[in-house]
Amino acid sequence: MSGQLTIAMPKGRIFNEAADLLRRAGFDLPPEFDDSRKLIIDVEEEKFRFILAKPMDVATYVEHGVADLGIAGKDVLLEEERDVYELLDLKISGCYLAVAGLPDTKMNDVAPKIATKYPNIAAAYFREQGEQVEIIKLNGSIELAPLIGLADRIVDIVSTGRTLKENGLVEYETITTVTSRLIVNPVSYRIKDERISELIKRLNDVI
Ligand code: PRP
Repeated sequence: MSGQLTIAMPKGRIFNEAADLLRRAGFDLPPEFDDSRKLIIDVEEEKFRFILAKPMDVATYVEHGVADLGIAGKDVLLEEERDVYELLDLKISGCYLAVAGLPDTKMNDVAPKIATKYPNIAAAYFREQGEQVEIIKLNGSIELAPLIGLADRIVDIVSTGRTLKENGLVEYETITTVTSRLIVNPVSYRIKDERISELIKRLNDVI
């Protein structure tokens, strides 16, 4: 398809909000878009190809140029520092990164342990605070770590706050707010600028 744009979409909780935003911007996405198991979906009328990736991988596809554009959380962009341009704050999937732990507990004086899916963000944050910590990388269910004595604190996403509350944890500090961003491959941005500008304009109108 000539003039086709390939867009990497994050599977999971951001997906529906992102699809809704594209529809509000006037793009005609088929119903199969929402509950298909397909990983590549062509929408020929719009000259879009969507690839459905793990949220943490979206920027990787865009950096390597196999997707022109992607929708990625600011958390992932801060963690990975990929060679992509951030074009738009889509203002969806709002949440924030926080330091949390068991209530009324002090961090160990010597190399406190911090469990997180975001080792780079956590390391940079504690370095800025002048605290020496040991980072323990986990892939999910981060809130388990302080409950079973793996870590003194966690650095994780807080959305509704329900996971912290239901596990008896409290927030100690907010690190940064997080929303989803439209990102682009630098080469695609140069050679497909007309279509990309049109997409940005239509999204801007509904953000
Ligand atoms: C995320 C995050 C928290 C939770 C926060 O995990 O890591 O655990 O959501 O949401 P809440 O404030 O609304 O409770 P996710 O559900 O993506 O799963 P994971 O534990 O496998 O990372």
